[in-house]
Amino acid sequence: MSVFPVVLSQSKFIHRDSVKYPLEERALQFGDGIYEVIRIYNGSFYLLDEHIDRLYRSAEAIKLTFSVSKTELKELLSELVVRNNLTEDGKIYMQITRGSAPRDHIFPKNVEPNFYAYVQALPRNLQNLKNGVSVITHPDERWQNCYIKSLNLLPNVLAKQTAFEQGCYEAILHRDGIVTECSSSNVYLVKDGKIYTHPTTRNILHGCVRMAIERFVADVGIQLVEEPFKIHDIQEADELFLSSSTSEITPIIMVDGQKIQDGKPGEITRKLQKAYEKDANILENLITNV
Ligand code: PDD
Repeated sequence: MSVFPVVLSQSKFIHRDSVKYPLEERALQFGDGIYEVIRIYNGSFYLLDEHIDRLYRSAEAIKLTFSVSKTELKELLSELVVRNNLTEDGKIYMQITRGSAPRDHIFPKNVEPNFYAYVQALPRNLQNLKNGVSVITHPDERWQNCYIKSLNLLPNVLAKQTAFEQGCYEAILHRDGIVTECSSSNVYLVKDGKIYTHPTTRNILHGCVRMAIERFVADVGIQLVEEPFKIHDIQEADELFLSSSTSEITPIIMVDGQKIQDGKPGEITRKLQKAYEKDANILENLITNV
């Protein structure tokens, strides 16, 4: 994998080898910070404004004061892509923490947030997009503020690891049988021509790709119903799919070892994948090649 040497650190561009963090850093010790993952296609951002808006919403929710403006931040991120000469498909990872200070749960005074961002190449997973993936179901063991894109991801990590150990791609999370989302993506169920997904409450992350899907359904003429579905609705589903910046719109073809219908990606999922490719200006069209 190509390594892109320039990283953004405290609004400065430096070589990745010179990034140093002290022992006492709030993200390392408390997970006290927030992050974003932004998709890049052919060197251009996809859904940048949505990600930036969510980042500032997360900052506000954890009372983190970040003095860089949205406009400045977008300029810095664009320059990061240019300085690294990233012209292919990729992603930016960025995080902001409450800073470096002697360990104490109470917020430190007069401490600047730590902020960094870096780019990585990320080819589209055409195999998954075309054929779909298998997933497991798993209890949602997270806190009550999942709308914040916080660095505290241990329950997500454990759920995804359990999925991985069972040869699966994702874990569909549920609270007492009600499906919230997946460990790192949003999830949708199609039944009788309608798409069902959990409403954007505090219990799920308000996905940027989900926001795009809200636009696509209008074009495609499908109803998106913001109503939660249950674990036991899954086996009766016509289609199931998930969405995220790294997974795009990925069909789910098997849940806990049971096929969804004939175990092939559904028609509505395909229409949305097509709308996604158009919206993201993706040149090679996955759908026509299927
Ligand atoms: N994950 N739900 C959770 C819990 C997520 O972590 C993500 C994204 C999503 C989808 O959000 P979006 O459409 O804005 O990417 C939903 C990123 C990709 C990650 O943590 O790597």
